[in-house]
Amino acid sequence: MYLPNKRPDDMERITTPELAQAFIEKQVKLVQEQVGDKKVLLALSGGVDSSVVAALLIKAIGKQLTCVHVNHGLMRKNESESVIEMFQNGMDANLIYVDATDHFLGLLAGVSDPERKRKIIGKEFITVFADEARKLEDITFLAQGTIYPDILESIEAAAGKKAVKSHHNVGGLPEDLKFELVEPLRLLYKDEVRVVGEALGLPHSMVYRQPFPGPGLGVRCLGAITRDRLEALREADAILREEFDKNGLAEKVWQYFIAVPDIKSVGVKDESRYEGWPAIIRAINTKDAMTATIEEIPYPILHHITDRITHEVPGINRVLLDLTPKPIGTIEWE
Ligand code: XMP
Repeated sequence: MYLPNKRPDDMERITTPELAQAFIEKQVKLVQEQVGDKKVLLALSGGVDSSVVAALLIKAIGKQLTCVHVNHGLMRKNESESVIEMFQNGMDANLIYVDATDHFLGLLAGVSDPERKRKIIGKEFITVFADEARKLEDITFLAQGTIYPDILESIEAAAGKKAVKSHHNVGGLPEDLKFELVEPLRLLYKDEVRVVGEALGLPHSMVYRQPFPGPGLGVRCLGAITRDRLEALREADAILREEFDKNGLAEKVWQYFIAVPDIKSVGVKDESRYEGWPAIIRAINTKDAMTATIEEIPYPILHHITDRITHEVPGINRVLLDLTPKPIGTIEWE
């Protein structure tokens, strides 16, 4: 076994750059021993965990790693571009970029049930990734950004605890694709992954980015997804993030985003009737995403965000603020 499944009781918490360097050196050796001269594949979403695994494996095995970035069309604004910029241009990684936007949006057309949307996105993500994997030759290993809470969650799931929503990841590849796993972060907690990420030279903004669900904007474009509403959501979300960054809120708020429901209200623009969707702001704080409280956003900032979104985003004519803690509301709307 490459690493044990259980974190040893005496394993020191990685809290400093020095401890992170020691972890990196040890993992580089372990990965090199495990992989030898074979090739490794990684689904690189651009999230913290897969990005840190990518940086660690590039350090350990360089071009023996192939990263596949699948853009399902539900990424935030400029997200895929920055994955390409950072890993292909910045770290000279082998990176395959798959733009599957049309494919995903085609499959999702007319589907309004959130769990069905999740299942389609999760299943199709694996299919697209598996298709890419089949095109590559001599891949022996699959790297994954599994971290310790994922392992604890599977232990709980195996013990029969019920999940509220089905979270998707890259597990469950088809039978014909049998890879050995490389999971160098599997004993780390999230805060440790971030310290390791910074020690590997990844930018602070990337390593401390807020969590983003696998189905992406797909569960924030509420109900059946349409391209125009998805685009409006992406633009409004980019404005919210820009303003949170500028006003120092990005560091204080655990997760913040826009959801756009499939309803229209009447507004006025250029002295005529203007029907548009509302953009709903959700900004929460939490420790473990099991419960969440509402973060207070100063009114002047909210006014400014409202002003920008309603003027700059075609199709949006109102901005609403969600004040619901979890429970009773989940963090995402769907
Ligand atoms: P909820 O909405 O269940 O969200 O309160 C808790 C945390 O999980 C994220 N989330 C997901 N992450 N796939 C993911 O990878 C999903 O389908 C999914 N649904 C919710 C959510 O953003 C929050 O951080």
